[in-house]
Amino acid sequence: MILVTGGAGFIGSNFILDWLAQHQEPVVNLDKLSYAGNLNNLANIKDDVRHHFVHGDINDRALVDQLLKQYQPRAVLHFAAESHVDRSIHGPAAFIETNVNGTFQLLEATRAYWQTLAAEEKSQFRFLHVSTDEVFGSLNANDPPFSETTAYAPNSPYSASKAASDHLVRAYHHTYGLPTLTTHCSNNYGPYHFPEKLIPLIISNARAGKDLPIYGDGSQVRDWLYVADHCTAIRRVLEAGTPGDTYNIGGWNEKTNLEVVHRICDLLDELQPKSNGSYRDQIRHVTDRPGHDKRYAIDARKLEKELGWKPQESFDSGIRKTVAWYLANDAWTEQVLSGEYKNWVALQYN
Ligand code: NAD
Ligand code: DAU
Repeated sequence: MILVTGGAGFIGSNFILDWLAQHQEPVVNLDKLSYAGNLNNLANIKDDVRHHFVHGDINDRALVDQLLKQYQPRAVLHFAAESHVDRSIHGPAAFIETNVNGTFQLLEATRAYWQTLAAEEKSQFRFLHVSTDEVFGSLNANDPPFSETTAYAPNSPYSASKAASDHLVRAYHHTYGLPTLTTHCSNNYGPYHFPEKLIPLIISNARAGKDLPIYGDGSQVRDWLYVADHCTAIRRVLEAGTPGDTYNIGGWNEKTNLEVVHRICDLLDELQPKSNGSYRDQIRHVTDRPGHDKRYAIDARKLEKELGWKPQESFDSGIRKTVAWYLANDAWTEQVLSGEYKNWVALQYN
């Protein structure tokens, strides 16, 4: 049994679907169902007895204690977070509450549970913390990519809250010996990606005939990884990572935002052409994100060399699959767009 937090979100749901396709081992999924949590992401496993969904908050210490006692997991995989940089600029408090306080509560509950385990289970137990490359700050054009030893320099309330949670995880290993693993992944994309983030936002706005908002000049660089590759990397780190270590995960796919948006428009022009013109005609440059990080890039050689992980998808193959998935899953997008999302779009883009 493993315990996953945030398993109704974008990456957590992809991870659980992938896990149950590869393993017989059951999953307890603790998720608060914030605006970003969506049980429709897990519709394909709704009758699967190996998936135990629990609606609750990682800050609820009594609930987490009870789940650990009841299910006796061999690992906790911590995905739950507030994850959107722009929302952290409008309202940082929720980011402190979940990413910092919530991770602290989860660590405390896990430490108490872990201390009750017999020696063998205790040494095999893992707490895997899913972090981000954003904790390393922003690179200039000619800087080498982030490695595991790059100094922390978070620039947004989101990345600062993730950095704080990373430090707590590190301290729990160093002080108490809790067998932790921390991963730092670059930008993910793929199925079930909430359309507040660049790639699904562009796909959904393009198809709705709306503007495609590019912050500033669109020259910022992100290093894109198809979500299924992130999931295989996490499985590999859980299986063979060294307790206390950190692992960078990335696909060597640096692209400017403008390149990404052009690629999506070109794919839509091919797969669902408009009656006149190109989707590129909908591109609009809008006010830049405050404190916008210029470039992220991941050096994933440690994971490749030590644990033999490599991504399967190139950006071209992954983005084609992603656009095709959104074209085939209108009902999923429509359900998401009809909810709280409308308030967010009004706040951020009007
Ligand atoms: P997401 O916003 O899509 O999903 C987050 C999930 O966590 C949601 O299901 C939400 O309901 C749940 N959640 C939020 N607060 C909670 C709480 N207090 N208790 C229980 N559940 C709660 O996020 P995502 O994009 O899937 O990211 C997952 C993790 O991966 C995050 O920790 C994020 O920092 C990290 N990460 C994301 C990316 C990316 O590109 N999306 C890249 C690297 C790392
Ligand atoms: O690097 C990993 C991080 O990637 C994760 O830790 C975060 O959880 C995840 O949200 C993502 O952060 P970004 O800020 O890089 O992702 P986002 O999709 O919000 O933006 C990608 C780039 O596109 C960024 O440079 C801002 C730009 N952008 C974004 C939006 C939503 C636009 O130009 N227009 C937009 O409307």
